[in-house]
Amino acid sequence: MSVALDFGSTFVLIVVAFLVSRRLQAGYATRSLKRQHGCQEPPKYPHKDPFFGSDLFRDSAEHAKQSKLLERWNSRYMQYGRTFRAIMQGTPAVCTIDPTNLLAITTTNFKDYGVQPTRRDATLPFLGEGVFTMDGPFWEHSRALLRPTFSRTNIANLPAFEVHLKKFLKLLPQDGTTVDLKPLLCKLFIDTSTEFLFGESMNILNEKEPERSQEFLDAFHYAQKGTGRRLQLGKLAFLYRDKKYYESIKVAHAFADYYVDKAIEYRKRRLAAAEKGDSGLSDDDTPGRRVVLLHDMAMETDNRVDLRNQIMHVFLAGHESSAITIGNALFQLCRNPEKWQKLRKEVLTLGSPDSTTLTVEKVKGCKYLTNIIRETVRLYPVASMSTRKTYKDTILPTGGGPAGTSPIFVRKGTIVASSVFAIHRISECWQPDPEAFRPERWEDPEFKPGPSYMPFGLGIRTCPARGLAEIEIGYTLARMAQIYERVECRDEVLEWVEELRVSTSSKNGTKVGLVLA
Ligand code: HEM
Repeated sequence: MSVALDFGSTFVLIVVAFLVSRRLQAGYATRSLKRQHGCQEPPKYPHKDPFFGSDLFRDSAEHAKQSKLLERWNSRYMQYGRTFRAIMQGTPAVCTIDPTNLLAITTTNFKDYGVQPTRRDATLPFLGEGVFTMDGPFWEHSRALLRPTFSRTNIANLPAFEVHLKKFLKLLPQDGTTVDLKPLLCKLFIDTSTEFLFGESMNILNEKEPERSQEFLDAFHYAQKGTGRRLQLGKLAFLYRDKKYYESIKVAHAFADYYVDKAIEYRKRRLAAAEKGDSGLSDDDTPGRRVVLLHDMAMETDNRVDLRNQIMHVFLAGHESSAITIGNALFQLCRNPEKWQKLRKEVLTLGSPDSTTLTVEKVKGCKYLTNIIRETVRLYPVASMSTRKTYKDTILPTGGGPAGTSPIFVRKGTIVASSVFAIHRISECWQPDPEAFRPERWEDPEFKPGPSYMPFGLGIRTCPARGLAEIEIGYTLARMAQIYERVECRDEVLEWVEELRVSTSSKNGTKVGLVLA
């Protein structure tokens, strides 16, 4: 008995000694890492609740309710500095908008940070694993599936886009009565993006909306909302129980599966034909005629679940960002008639005002149009917040010490949160008038904002669809500027008010009166 006790207490002692020594070693490694990099502490958010940070959470929730969360973060950075420590839902956090730090997070020390710990579990029932929520080898696999399509040079199919744009233009009142462009632009981009992603347009701009499409959209948006709640709940996401959420997921998956099966059929046709020595392409499949992301991905894998998950991720990431950006550009242009006239002058020099003369090259060549898009996504980035979690102990290059310029030690498991909205308003980077809509600021060839400009993200994980989005946004604005002499502001609320969902948009839309040329 006493031998057994002695053995037991010796074992416990060994385990305790082992744990203590590991702790001491880790402490020593941390101290020497800090010394080696000259790390100092950044300012701290003045929490009333230093354990869970519930005061910061409540303050954010109150400002979100008033549609003022982006402004609130902006003012926090002005008050506490470009980099400060805080507690977010019980987890240590570093909040930073310093461009040097952003470069380290997204590029130099990219592997030290990830999105998976904060995104994967909450989004899993709806989206599965895919490009938007994973890190490491699975994310690399996901990007590899997208690469063949997005690296094509002829990805923007403007004649196909024009078919949908014509339907959109037909829905706009021609007698100057007030119209909110936001929902119509969203429909335009649902029609164009589903054609590009699934191979068939939902055609919701048609007078009689196809029932199946509407059912999918309602289900997708309901499941998206539920996913947003689960993301807010963080570790407590399992508490979210809503029957309709799970039913919506089933509807959305069934819709996507229908197209996945068609894509796998396409793959079989191509492979069988290739074996026989012909290309296996029907008229509809001819390259250059149309690019379908799901078909391209099916040539890389025939894993049904993987294909469905990946296409859901891209649909989530891409189906409304361009529509929101065009709405935001017009929000500003109707308040600045002289800028609309400047844009019109530029696009009218391109030839007769119709779609046949407007090519990708011509859209890219419009300097003022390009600057309008740059300035719009600066003031209103659709991805207005960026959050990562550290996979290991790491160093942020700046923000510590009394001058705020020393490196900072960041422990494994820390949330690193940034506000892109605030980065795009840093006073030193965006003079003159950081808050003003001034496409002209981009006219100076010396003006290169570097990492203080990140509307499409930075570094390894930037938006793969940037080129496509810029062309489609530019084309839509150019076609509208060809057609309308004036765009009059008809919003009751003059200032831009935020609506935060997966994408950030104008809560009050863009209400205008359109005057034909
Ligand atoms: C104005 C238009 C757009 C803007 C401003 C935009 C912005 C962004 C940003 C900031 C990210 C990085 C998010 C992060 O750091 O986690 C991103 C990622 C992504 N975007 Fe876009 N996007 C736009 C349009 C699109 C479109 C049209 C598509 C698809 C057709 C798309 C597909 C994606 C995908 C798949 C990712 C994930 C990339 C990854 O994590 O590796 N985006 N986008």
